[in-house]
Amino acid sequence: MAKNWKEAQINESKFWIDIYSKNSDEKFYKKIDDEGLIGFTNQVLERHKLNVYSFSEKVIADVGCGPFGIIGGLALIEKEKKIKIRKIFGIDPLMNFYRDNIKILNEDDHLKLINSPGENIPLDNKTVDYIFSTNVLDHCSDPKEFIIETERILNEKGEFHCSAHVVYPILTLLAPFLKYFDKNHPKHFTEKFLLKLLRSKFKIVNVTYRATIIEDHPKFSFLNIFKNKNFFRGIKRFLSNYILYTVYFSCKKK
Ligand SMILES: C[S@@+](CC[C@H](N)C(=O)[O-])C[C@H]1O[C@@H](n2cnc3c(N)ncnc32)[C@H](O)[C@@H]1O
Repeated sequence: MAKNWKEAQINESKFWIDIYSKNSDEKFYKKIDDEGLIGFTNQVLERHKLNVYSFSEKVIADVGCGPFGIIGGLALIEKEKKIKIRKIFGIDPLMNFYRDNIKILNEDDHLKLINSPGENIPLDNKTVDYIFSTNVLDHCSDPKEFIIETERILNEKGEFHCSAHVVYPILTLLAPFLKYFDKNHPKHFTEKFLLKLLRSKFKIVNVTYRATIIEDHPKFSFLNIFKNKNFFRGIKRFLSNYILYTVYFSCKKK
């Protein structure tokens, strides 16, 4: 269980080490390959109703990108489709850990990796055109500060595209207790709560997609319970289908 942000972050790093360490006996999750990276990026762009060609000559930041985020696939799509993105920032409070241990993203002139939380991003005001945060708002310690900070670095015509797991409205009363069962999430919100928070900083906020857990994570099915290293973890993953769904938001300043 994750009682607070620090604990959830420790669990998050253990999750990735379990998959990527040399002696890993994790069979449920596999190391990602180029096809997986591109597939994940395309899925997120589709959910936000975005076309990759709109990124030409733009500055993009993936805040809470994890070990690859959407930017791992974006770098590959960029080459494949001959698009020139001006600059890509990968930002995560576990970035040093990912860089040293998971080793998927490689920094160069084009891609800068920053070890930092989304509540305090070392970039100047209005310098980014597109910000992505996939499955992060429910992982961070202060979503309000996180949203204020993304609005600060976003340029006037910029767009903020984020997604999070949220609790079905009928289960709202359960939300404060879910952190005791769910190891990687310190917080559980409703769509309504996040919508209000985003609307406090952005003039235009739209829900572009709602996905069931199994739609985004086909492995969280009943039959896969038995393939989990830990049977109870398998049960929890399967049950999450009935408690959570993923909501995709797109936000603009004007
Ligand atoms: C479930 S992972 C999602 C990673 C990636 N966006 C993806 O979709 O594959 C959540 C990520 O959020 C990061 N995170 C947690 N708190 C954060 C914060 N305050 N600011 C930015 N990222 C944070 C974690 O370190 C972790 O890498």
